[in-house]
Amino acid sequence: MSQHTAPSERHAPVIAPSLLSADFSRLGEEVVALDRAGADWMHVDVMDGRFVPNLTIGPLVVSALRPHTSRVLDCHLMIEEPERYVGAFADAGADIITVHVEACRHLHRNLQQIRGLSRKSGDRVLAGVSLNPHTPVSALVHVLDLCDVVLVMSVNPGFGGQQFIPAVRPKIRELRAMIAAAGLPTRIEVDGGITVDTIADVAADGADAFVSGTGVLRSPQFGRDYAAAVAALRGTADAAMIWRT
Ligand code: DX5
Ligand code: ZN
Repeated sequence: MSQHTAPSERHAPVIAPSLLSADFSRLGEEVVALDRAGADWMHVDVMDGRFVPNLTIGPLVVSALRPHTSRVLDCHLMIEEPERYVGAFADAGADIITVHVEACRHLHRNLQQIRGLSRKSGDRVLAGVSLNPHTPVSALVHVLDLCDVVLVMSVNPGFGGQQFIPAVRPKIRELRAMIAAAGLPTRIEVDGGITVDTIADVAADGADAFVSGTGVLRSPQFGRDYAAAVAALRGTADAAMIWRT
């Protein structure tokens, strides 16, 4: 799933910088810089002004970014009626398409639809489901086998630069236990307020993919040194993932 992750390293940490914190006037250059810095996935936040109170980007921008990197384009759809747009995101070059439980009336059908789409490589698109901070893990019990990724929101979606919500930590532990019990390869991705100060806790809880916007692109500690930020996040996560066997 990642250029840096050999198949045998199933739980090698994935670092996914969020483009929401990038300089939008030079988004292509930012993607190239993140690629060179060792980012595994490029996290693309799609907002519709309805599901969340903000507007960002659509498939046209994903399509414009696609030639700039061969890394995984991880598209997080914070939109109502995502079934209307998932095909366009796949055509634009998305590798992972994540929809929100709270935005899907027919979640099972939506996941089947995403898994039926093809990537440029010919492989199928990977399907993700996201849970808002208030949504219990139990919402996924009957669709877990259709999820390649579960994205646990650790802020309320809509904006970058918010504070991590520690109350989501038990959900990560519960999910890791469910996934292990079912013997699934599902990744647990955490999104919101992830920095070198918070990543160890969620990694210890069972997350193995980490979105970080501010923590990579606007970090007071690392400045414009994206490679240092990515390496620090990866090293801290790797050391904390004690649940791996
Ligand atoms: C929030 C987005 C996040 C956000 C993360 O709605 O889904 O991906 O960009 O930004 P930070 O890391 O700054 O919290
Ligand atoms: Zn996101």
